[in-house]
Amino acid sequence: MVQKVRKAVFPAAGLGTRFLPATKAQPKEMLPLVDKPLIQYGVEESIHSGIQNIIIVTGRGKSAIEDHFDVNFELEHLLGSQKKTDLLQQVRDISDMIDIAYVRQKEALGLGHAVLRARELVGNEPFAVILSDDVIEAENPCLRQLLDIYDFFGATVVALMEVPKENISAYGVVDADPVDHNGAKNRLFRIRNMVEKPKAEDAPSNLAIIGRYILVPEIFKSIDSIQPGAGGEIQLTDALKHLLRNRPVYGYKFEGKRFDAGDKLGFLQATVEFALHRADLGASFRKYLSTLKL
Ligand code: G1P
Repeated sequence: MVQKVRKAVFPAAGLGTRFLPATKAQPKEMLPLVDKPLIQYGVEESIHSGIQNIIIVTGRGKSAIEDHFDVNFELEHLLGSQKKTDLLQQVRDISDMIDIAYVRQKEALGLGHAVLRARELVGNEPFAVILSDDVIEAENPCLRQLLDIYDFFGATVVALMEVPKENISAYGVVDADPVDHNGAKNRLFRIRNMVEKPKAEDAPSNLAIIGRYILVPEIFKSIDSIQPGAGGEIQLTDALKHLLRNRPVYGYKFEGKRFDAGDKLGFLQATVEFALHRADLGASFRKYLSTLKL
């Protein structure tokens, strides 16, 4: 029997240097796409995938994240007295949504290090990791797609996406063999090797790891035993490579559209597309865009 995945870890202690100056005094996870902070998209994806137990790895200057998911009595009182019931409900839904635990990463020593900070809270069970600056629009949530693979194989799965050669060195890149699954030949891969942020000419393929992972608890031992890698950081990709020595690791080319919302251009693209898809804003926003001379 495959053990159920109940917990999702959100590393959120990074410095957000790609988004300065907006992130100087504000966590990048709180940047709003239309009207919702980035991290809330990830948390909702997790809930819609069946995972309610959220662990957020925070750092210095990240208290806005805790406040966002907490109850705001003053605001609720104000909205209540003004009879703004829809807004009140939206504000309440956020704090009612989930059970969140927080753990601190005192220094930003890398993604692997951030995940390791969640070890005690995760315990000896499989878990998900979501990087909230990868925002994914999909009919079936990306994390749910990975969980379906996990439920079938009982093994580690990472999200994959094809990336053009000129951008590949920003990612973890896999060397992988396709595996037939559910009648499809080009979605699931068994990973042979992987490398974090290779030079374009050294990349083993055009398949990049995107910020959704289902990990087995043995990953913690792997993180513990690796040395700092790319950028002098403890990399999750290096830990996965270490895990590969005695555990299978799969990659799944998910269905859906991913935005790199941690990057200024990616963030703008996500903002435009999410606004266009909103029932309350889409039509008037489209009309506005069509008046622009482009
Ligand atoms: C992280 C991971 C990398 C992955 C990427 C996806 O890198 O280390 O393997 O491809 O997320 O967004 P970062 O973007 O934090 O540099």
